[in-house]
Amino acid sequence: MITSKMAGMLNAQLNKEYYSSYSYLAMAAYCADQSFEGFANWFRVQSQEEYMHALKFYDYIQNQQARVELKAIQAPAVEFASVCDAATQALKQEQSVTKSIYEIYALADEERDYATKNFLNWFVAEQVEEEASAQLLVDKLQMIGESRGSLLYLDKEAKKRTLAE
Ligand code: FEO
Repeated sequence: MITSKMAGMLNAQLNKEYYSSYSYLAMAAYCADQSFEGFANWFRVQSQEEYMHALKFYDYIQNQQARVELKAIQAPAVEFASVCDAATQALKQEQSVTKSIYEIYALADEERDYATKNFLNWFVAEQVEEEASAQLLVDKLQMIGESRGSLLYLDKEAKKRTLAE
């Protein structure tokens, strides 16, 4: 069992994961529109990962005999100045999700809710990876700047990304 306050925070996080999924899909659509198939693939895979994160919250809330509450998903940004701009927004999104996960963790600590802390540990580790991969993408895109040739090379590399198990 979890408290109703915890159920509320977990449901809010479920919504944030769907928002992340939606945001990344918007970034994928922007990249596809710019004919960057590889970056479109990278963001699309990220969008699928976020959908899986949302389902992890869905399952956990249900397993704790609480009610899943699906609220409206905020519309994501759909226009970007460049792929680098989209990647920078992605990094900010991940940093905000990390902060949000920590807030739930702090409540679990306060409530001595060991089950939720254990559940959240996976997300704490995942966020380190998510921030690192977004940061790496931003760094590479900043490094190459306006070089079209290098951008196309990175686009080709980004096409190789597949959904992790
Ligand atoms: Fe579900 Fe990228 O955090």
